[in-house]
Amino acid sequence: MNIAFFSNRPYMQAAFTEHNHRHGFNITWFDVALNDTTALLGQGFDAVCVFVNDHLNADVIRLLAEGGVRHIALRCAGYNNVDLDAANRAGMNVVRVPAYSPEAVAEHTVGLMLTLNRHIHKAYQRTRDANFSLNGMVGFNMHGKTAGIIGAGKIGLATLRILKGLGMKLLVHDPVQDNAVLAMGAEYAPLEQLFAESDVISLHCPLTPDNYHLLNRHSFAQMKHGVMIINTSRGGLLNARDAIDAINTGKIGHLGLDVYEEEEHLFFEDKSCQIIQDEIFHLLSAYPNVILTGHQAFLTNEALSAIAEVTLDNLQCLADSLPCHNKIN
Ligand code: NAI
Repeated sequence: MNIAFFSNRPYMQAAFTEHNHRHGFNITWFDVALNDTTALLGQGFDAVCVFVNDHLNADVIRLLAEGGVRHIALRCAGYNNVDLDAANRAGMNVVRVPAYSPEAVAEHTVGLMLTLNRHIHKAYQRTRDANFSLNGMVGFNMHGKTAGIIGAGKIGLATLRILKGLGMKLLVHDPVQDNAVLAMGAEYAPLEQLFAESDVISLHCPLTPDNYHLLNRHSFAQMKHGVMIINTSRGGLLNARDAIDAINTGKIGHLGLDVYEEEEHLFFEDKSCQIIQDEIFHLLSAYPNVILTGHQAFLTNEALSAIAEVTLDNLQCLADSLPCHNKIN
């Protein structure tokens, strides 16, 4: 099978090359993202392998299909960046990696919480400058505080497990109830209750048309003053403009973002010598109580290895015309 591998990065190529020894696929590596302007590169391949910021809208899918592409292999869990109806119409298989390391994302999530709470990002800079003042560095005990988890699937559950270890009270909002969540002592709650009672709110649900900008000025208004918000799920779940207003009033006390609605034009690239044309991003990165990471919550050796293994296994199933349980259309 000939595979066009978009949005390639060295750490991805290393993991896929290692696992491809078992398959012997012919992989062509493209650093560029797959989108309207690059879709023609995919023509002539059997499959495209894509990541979170590749943009497979109806036009891209049509161009790929015209070029003979039959399979779309997502090397991620979320698939909000693929027009599934268009893929169905084109008769293309779409496969994904439903879980590669929930713990990797959960650990990064809690890392953001602890860093923000205890000002570790500021301490790192201060001590390098021999500034040992503790002014402005006061945090709070996580123990005894309430965490509100929105979406308790694999990553939400792994996050709950760590937060339980910290001694937090756990509230969960998820339309689907899971005994594993209840067994952890967590309580399911409507969003209004979760907003009103949580000291820390963390998003772990997929982005769907129904929950776009789930966190916005109306939801912030229902939250505790000084609430900590963490988003390691998808940028579109949070209205960043409204979040800035809420930071300015002190309603949001800490904001940790591993994902950003406009990340497609920023993340996974070195933009350090460019003038970034995104005022919201500049505002967010200027606040001392905001931490942005560039969609790296998944980035552990274990996760990369699992992503490569499952993606190539998915493609092997399709190559052999076998049923693939990670097919989503
Ligand atoms: P999952 O499918 O195991 O769990 C998602 C949960 O969200 C399910 O329990 C579902 O019932 C629930 N849910 C769906 N709509 C909801 C809503 N409107 N409100 C509350 N809950 C809702 O997915 P998993 O593996 O836990 O991943 C969650 C999300 O994390 C992915 O969709 C993806 O966007 C994000 N992600 C981010 C990564 C990163 O590196 N930052 C890496 C991997 C995933």
